[in-house]
Amino acid sequence: MIKLFFIQPDGAIREAMAQNGQTLLSAAQEAGIDGFVAECGGNCTCATCHCFIEPEHLKELFEPSEEEKAMLAFTAIPREEHSRLACQIVVEYFMDGLRVYLPERQF
Ligand code: FES
Repeated sequence: MIKLFFIQPDGAIREAMAQNGQTLLSAAQEAGIDGFVAECGGNCTCATCHCFIEPEHLKELFEPSEEEKAMLAFTAIPREEHSRLACQIVVEYFMDGLRVYLPERQF
């Protein structure tokens, strides 16, 4: 299992355990993490699974696809350099301990 930390806008930290190959969004949903809406169900068409990856680990992740990059233009909170869509990130073992920051809102 891979341990992930989700940090809410108020600083509260919640842990989630993910399996290799699971999406970040799926792991968060299974752990009951608040802050994602995921209106499109993980199909990269809503941008309501916006999150911020801790910058020092961002470059370890796969680059976002063209579709993800396009959807990141529609986030409720302006995207930042370390913005990603949680439904598009596949969790792998090397991500153990990754910190994921939630935006203040998804709409
Ligand atoms: S859940 Fe809709 S874009 Fe990720």
